[in-house]
Amino acid sequence: MVEPTLNQAVLRGFWADKAREASNRWTSPDLLAYELSLLAPLAQGARSVLDLGSGHGDLSRRLCPPGTRLVAVDWEPGFATAYTEPEHAFVQSLVTDFRTDERFDLVLLFGVVTCLELAEELQVYGALAAHVGPGGVAVVKNQCSTGREFAVDTHSEALATRYSGRYPSDEEQQARLQAVFADIEVIHYPDQFNPWPNSRHLAFVCREPRDRAASPNG
Ligand SMILES: C[S@@+](CC[C@H](N)C(=O)[O-])C[C@H]1O[C@@H](n2cnc3c(N)ncnc32)[C@H](O)[C@@H]1O
Repeated sequence: MVEPTLNQAVLRGFWADKAREASNRWTSPDLLAYELSLLAPLAQGARSVLDLGSGHGDLSRRLCPPGTRLVAVDWEPGFATAYTEPEHAFVQSLVTDFRTDERFDLVLLFGVVTCLELAEELQVYGALAAHVGPGGVAVVKNQCSTGREFAVDTHSEALATRYSGRYPSDEEQQARLQAVFADIEVIHYPDQFNPWPNSRHLAFVCREPRDRAASPNG
């Protein structure tokens, strides 16, 4: 079977346009409030946060209390201007290329998997595991297909522009994460945030990278 694929040119153009706007988020303020409440207990006490595919950081900048180190990574340089606090750093990079020796208490991958090909999705899960510090947590959130994986490349009425995205099936995405993390909690967003019949918002809270679970040094 041929894997569903993205239209990379459409995707890059879409996010370059979003980087020129005040916010990369077009969903309701309720969804942002819900995500902040979901993440608040995980961010509590975190000294460092890595946000892969950060956009303007509407989520991560609000989540981090003053003094928390935030490293935001995005392929679009236009998002850099949103990060003005001294403890915030913006790195222009593909999420699949980003590497640092630093380890983080909380690693976010929010709204990004739908922008990645399957091979990139698998690659970035390895990067999540590599960047989570001891006792840390990675949260992967995106819309999943309620059936088989599918990709779109079409004009979106809702976004009033052409859009391309890939929507993994929830079960396949969970299995891919389970290959990398020993402990996964799946959070189903409330129905009010799921307007489409063929997809729904899910968050995967991932702990205990398997490559370190076997190591005596954790
Ligand atoms: C839906 S937005 C989410 C932004 C932010 N995580 C949030 O929840 O508000 C997806 C972001 O991922 C970025 N992105 C998509 N694919 C990427 C890639 N391969 N490498 C780096 N950034 C990417 C886009 O530029 C965009 O800012």
